[in-house]
Amino acid sequence: MKQSEAKERILRLREELSRHNDLYYRQNSPIISDFEYDILMNELETLEKKYPQFISEDSPTLRVGDDTNKDFGQYSHKYPMLSLGNTYNEGELRDFIDRVDKLTDGPVQFVCELKFDGVSISITYVNGKLFRALTRGDGVKGDDVTLNIKTVKNLPHIIQYDSVPPEFTVRGEVVMTRDVFNRLNDERVSEGNEPFANPRNAAAGTIKTLDPKVVASRDLTCLVYHLLTDKEIHENHFDNLMEAKKWGFEVPGSLVVCSNIDEILKFINYWEKERENLPYDIDGIVIKVNSLSVQEKLGYTSKNPRWAISYKFKAEQAATRLISVSFQVGRTGVVTPVANLEPILLAGTTVKRASLHNADQIELLDLHIDDTVFVEKGGEIIPKIVGVDHSLRNDNPDKVLFIPNCPECGTELVRNEDEANYFCPNYLHCPPQIKGRIEHFAGRKAMDIDGIGEKIVDLLYSKGLVVNYADLYDLSYDQIVVLEGFQDKSASNLINSIQRSKAMPYNRLLFALGIRHVGETVAKTVAKNFNTIDKLINATPEQLMEIDEIGPKIASSIVNFFADQENLAIIDRLRKKGLMFGESKGEEKTVSNILKGKTVVISGTFEKHSREEYKEIIEKHGGKNGSSISSNTSFVLIGSNMGPAKKEKANKLGVSLMNEIEFLKLIGEY
Ligand code: IVH
Repeated sequence: MKQSEAKERILRLREELSRHNDLYYRQNSPIISDFEYDILMNELETLEKKYPQFISEDSPTLRVGDDTNKDFGQYSHKYPMLSLGNTYNEGELRDFIDRVDKLTDGPVQFVCELKFDGVSISITYVNGKLFRALTRGDGVKGDDVTLNIKTVKNLPHIIQYDSVPPEFTVRGEVVMTRDVFNRLNDERVSEGNEPFANPRNAAAGTIKTLDPKVVASRDLTCLVYHLLTDKEIHENHFDNLMEAKKWGFEVPGSLVVCSNIDEILKFINYWEKERENLPYDIDGIVIKVNSLSVQEKLGYTSKNPRWAISYKFKAEQAATRLISVSFQVGRTGVVTPVANLEPILLAGTTVKRASLHNADQIELLDLHIDDTVFVEKGGEIIPKIVGVDHSLRNDNPDKVLFIPNCPECGTELVRNEDEANYFCPNYLHCPPQIKGRIEHFAGRKAMDIDGIGEKIVDLLYSKGLVVNYADLYDLSYDQIVVLEGFQDKSASNLINSIQRSKAMPYNRLLFALGIRHVGETVAKTVAKNFNTIDKLINATPEQLMEIDEIGPKIASSIVNFFADQENLAIIDRLRKKGLMFGESKGEEKTVSNILKGKTVVISGTFEKHSREEYKEIIEKHGGKNGSSISSNTSFVLIGSNMGPAKKEKANKLGVSLMNEIEFLKLIGEY
């Protein structure tokens, strides 16, 4: 792989993984399994190791997924809230045990626990009273969901026990039991609402509900797996959990102490079968070093403890009959075949539909209608067909064939040589593509127009009010207020947020345009190098490819987008409405040269500005942003929670540290 290809792939993987993080942690509707996610993550890790020049502090390999949203207040975690490394087989588990053995002296004891499939929560108690509950957030700060958590019945609000320290934190998983989940979904369906896909999504959605009464009615359960105190109570994890149990927390009795891999494997094998009899879902086993001093010695990476690992169970399978195949057209025009199945119970939920991926997969399976197929829930998310029981094939001659035309607009489908998917090339006029593009444009990471989601776009489109994103800026209060579900306030709110979005910076607008292969990061890079839309419209593929991160695929996608007269007309309308195409933006200009010749690395979290804002500030004052600490770094701008490893590296290289206030004073902002 050439360097430029590696860089392009790294960026692509980062964007993909960030998108999946967002779908999982913020929208509670993941579209790939944990296993598939881990494959992408491993590829990115391998590439970043091989090409360390492209490592960036923002990479998903170094940061945990972020669940925070602006509906909640945020607070910092007293102890960072990390994730866990995953293993999927005995070999990977043995590697973990060997690593632990190598880094410690003497035999190590492990605690094996169930890996509950829900949402993690960190709850602090002060003077025996439930004080604050935070979601994991970005691991450094989380959303304050105290009021919601107080409705969880199996959590004590007040603890009166001699051994309770003045302040402590318990961490655990908020889950929805299968019983509650099935009842809730029955209710939702009978009320005409979309059912939740699985108990994990239901628990995650519930914990982020704004009305604590709704949360209370959903009957969540909290299972505790970690006790954190400033002063040590017991010297090992197992005894800590037993202590928490005495105080009234629900610590499932399944946990055991193991001294070797055979005992660990026995625990894993037992629960892999027995899990179907639990009242809630588990998706694996967590193996933790028992001794706290050994845990401390092993320490942490930026994302995971080195003293714990998860072992993920293989996906569960079931056999059922294929009734028919439908074809769905997505936002980008990709056509996905979906199998309609005779309903079957799998991993606690009823499955009626499953993904078939693409034409090759259908061909590979040699699929016929009426076939008995094996369905698998990879990581318990979207089920997929993984095989056919050919011995049960009847004489139904209906072989499943991929459709030649778009089911939405009739256009002939196209398949590019090096791609697995068929897509509908009629991107400007095919309804799901039009709606998807408007939704993307309004999305949180693009123009962030509050109130425009799938339903509203559907409504606006069905009324003929919008057929492309420029139409949004022509909408009036009078047109909105008469629509179903709108009232005076909601209509003016919608118009206001559309108007507000006009101030979004050029790079966000560029991302919002929905050019194929131009994700968030690529849009930023392109905007930096072609600082007005006119320069970009006139750019040749060669000029675009002079940017390190841009290879032939992205370059031709950009050039094709701007070669289309309809796109240019839409851009022209947006420009006339006053959107920011990088033209005469004074704010992009350099404000001072205080940081000229300086390379600054940002680390930690900040109070006065976000990390992104600091990056811009550094550039505006003539400085450069460095991605990792090296001897070229002039200084590190440090927020709270800077990792110890980074501090040590800076010390070693003699790179000075500057805190937020010192920095703001330097640039004259304080
Ligand atoms: S320990 C630093 N124990 O799994 C310790 N986590 O994939 C990290 N989880 O974010 C967590 N059951 O939400 C731990 N028995 C258990 C768990 C558990 C479920 C979740 C937790 C964590 C995620 C990591």
